[in-house]
Amino acid sequence: MHPILPARRTAGIKHATRDVVPIAQQVEKSGKKVLYLNIGDPMVYDYRTPEHLWQAMNDNRKKAEGYSDSLGTAGARQAVADYAKRMGVQGVAKEDVMTFVGGSEAIMLAMQGLFNPKENCLMPCPVYSIFTGELSFLEAESNEYYLDEENGWQPETEDIEKKINEKTRAIVVINPNNPTGSVSSKATLKKIIDIAGSHNLVVYADETYDQLLFDREKFTPMASIADDVPMLCFGSISKNYLAPGFRGGWIYRHDPQNLMKDYWEAIQKFSRLRLSTVAPVQYAMEAALNGPQDHFMELVPKLQKRRDLTYRRLNEIEGLSCVKPKGAFYAYPRINFPLPNDSDREFVIDLLKEKGVLCVYGEGFGQKKGTHHFRIVFLPPEEILSEAFDKIEEFVKEKYLRK
Ligand SMILES: Cc1ncc(COP(=O)(O)O)c(C=O)c1O
Repeated sequence: MHPILPARRTAGIKHATRDVVPIAQQVEKSGKKVLYLNIGDPMVYDYRTPEHLWQAMNDNRKKAEGYSDSLGTAGARQAVADYAKRMGVQGVAKEDVMTFVGGSEAIMLAMQGLFNPKENCLMPCPVYSIFTGELSFLEAESNEYYLDEENGWQPETEDIEKKINEKTRAIVVINPNNPTGSVSSKATLKKIIDIAGSHNLVVYADETYDQLLFDREKFTPMASIADDVPMLCFGSISKNYLAPGFRGGWIYRHDPQNLMKDYWEAIQKFSRLRLSTVAPVQYAMEAALNGPQDHFMELVPKLQKRRDLTYRRLNEIEGLSCVKPKGAFYAYPRINFPLPNDSDREFVIDLLKEKGVLCVYGEGFGQKKGTHHFRIVFLPPEEILSEAFDKIEEFVKEKYLRK
């Protein structure tokens, strides 16, 4: 027999946050301790899923043993619609909601329903890689617009306008942002909506981290200011509700003129094709959105302290600088000294091998030409973060700043 080759269109799929893990495992095998700052999974550290999410699954065991509705249970869909309303988004009914196996499946099926080969999607640069990976699988193109580091990583709206062409179908906005931790201003979001409206683009508003905000930062749900511009809004219980293993995510649509009628139906076809959502999780999602929200009282201040430490320590390291993250749990520091082979991947791999600190390289998210970054997840407790920053500081001094 010959080797069995995968489809060519899988070649472009990369996911830097996980691609670095096998190298870390090898480093660990060699006896070195590794501090994992690469993946946005709170459950690896000192966080627990709120008990009432588990309780809801347990209480509904009997109802959740069979296939669930392909589009999600009525209860879960209604809970998302009510959540949208509480967030200030008008006119979302349960029929405008579908639930999925995490926000990831929601994004993948939404993109599968829209893009033909060679069409393109406006994508923030840097970007969370699920969008680019899925697009590449669809043989569609990623059309990058920049986030402006000098302006708190706000989307560069002039760049967006410049990049639109006749094959552009949609624009992705990730707010609060992964990997930069930025939160977009209402004025910027409004401009993006206006641009989308005048070029007939669907807006994909990824609002996965919408409850994780620091310094009383104001978050504007995009659909709350969208007027009649159609958009799909993505959310999930993974981060806000500390339940990434549950795999509960959703889309709600904002489409007052029903312009996405056929497109919405196309996404539903995919949902039916894969038969069912994860039935027990429907009850956990419902409990998360409708139940007590007390965990935020502990979670947000805890994250904010870790953010403060991260921001201070990174900016104290000679040769690095970091914009203050306003939401989520990521920082995206910039490397301000020249790198051999112009590669922040090499920087990150060397940091891992030499000091046992695992971050994700900027090349995995994208960045302006000539700039270099890496992403740090600031979920870990302060002692782990401090140890990691000590090691990063030593590494930078020893390897790059020594004259
Ligand atoms: C911006 C963003 N969107 C979507 C997701 C998908 O998360 P999940 O599939 O766990 O809901 C993630 C996960 O890290 C993310 O960072």
